[in-house]
Amino acid sequence: MKQELIKALKEKYALGAFNFVNLEMLKAIIEASLETDFPVIASVSEGALKYIGEEETVAMFKSAKKNAKVFLHLDHGKNLDLIKRTVDLGFDSVMIDASSFPFEENVKQTKEVVNYAHNKGVMVEAELGTLAGIEDEVKADKNIYTNPNEAKKFVELTNCDSLAVAIGTSHGAYKFSGESKLNMEVLSEIENLLPNTPLVLHGASSVPQKYVDLLNNFGGNVKGAKGVDEKLLYEACHKHNICKINSDTDLRITFTATIRKYLSENPEVFDLRKYLGAGKEEVKKLLIEKIKLLGK
Ligand code: G3H
Ligand code: 13P
Ligand code: ZN
Repeated sequence: MKQELIKALKEKYALGAFNFVNLEMLKAIIEASLETDFPVIASVSEGALKYIGEEETVAMFKSAKKNAKVFLHLDHGKNLDLIKRTVDLGFDSVMIDASSFPFEENVKQTKEVVNYAHNKGVMVEAELGTLAGIEDEVKADKNIYTNPNEAKKFVELTNCDSLAVAIGTSHGAYKFSGESKLNMEVLSEIENLLPNTPLVLHGASSVPQKYVDLLNNFGGNVKGAKGVDEKLLYEACHKHNICKINSDTDLRITFTATIRKYLSENPEVFDLRKYLGAGKEEVKKLLIEKIKLLGK
């Protein structure tokens, strides 16, 4: 996976990293990768691992993947024991997110994970800076942009393979109250100081209005949702060094909206395969478009 990120860095594009919590979402990710013939990252959060089961996640991933170029990544790892377990279980990549701690503690925890993971050939993503909103249990009211000088020092001290930066995105469906904006100046400064480090953008869902409307029109209540403008995502990965773009909210909204519509239009259906299948197919379509936007 590291080689793929370095290639993306050199050729200026990004891999999509999409979260899954069940077989339908995982299959949508794998099939989108196969149909576009493009590598993709399948991410699981600590919460998703608890929901699916750790060994079940790996077994499901390995059997569903077949010959697709899809990588298994731990998203926002915060529990050091759990991170080490995922390394042992055969994940391709792990994220240590100690970004809520002071710089020194973030360095210390990241170094511990890097030592453990590198010994077993697993790459490590770390995070510096704070995204507004909720990152698992940690809630932040304000975005604290990554400090470029600290970023350089952090990568030198920890030897992490990729770095998640805070440049104005946040997790979830409500990222901006007005126009969506990213701080490309901070991004430029970081990449000037760290030209060889693949950078990661979290909270990168574009929250497509089409699916928000579908959700709301079929009984949902997600009003005023706003994501990152696709033009900004395009710029971040084709003009800057963002090589991994994380999206979870878009998949959730698309899946749920499609299922709401399906159940509302087919009240007699109670076969799970029908509505989960419809959700999966729509998520796959969404991902194919995303992969084309971010990829080569
Ligand atoms: O970045 C966080 C992801 O959206 C995962 O969220 O912890 O609710 O699974 P989760
Ligand atoms: P979104 O909430 O924008 O989909 O971000 C997901 C994410 O960053 C997962 O790590
Ligand atoms: Zn994230």
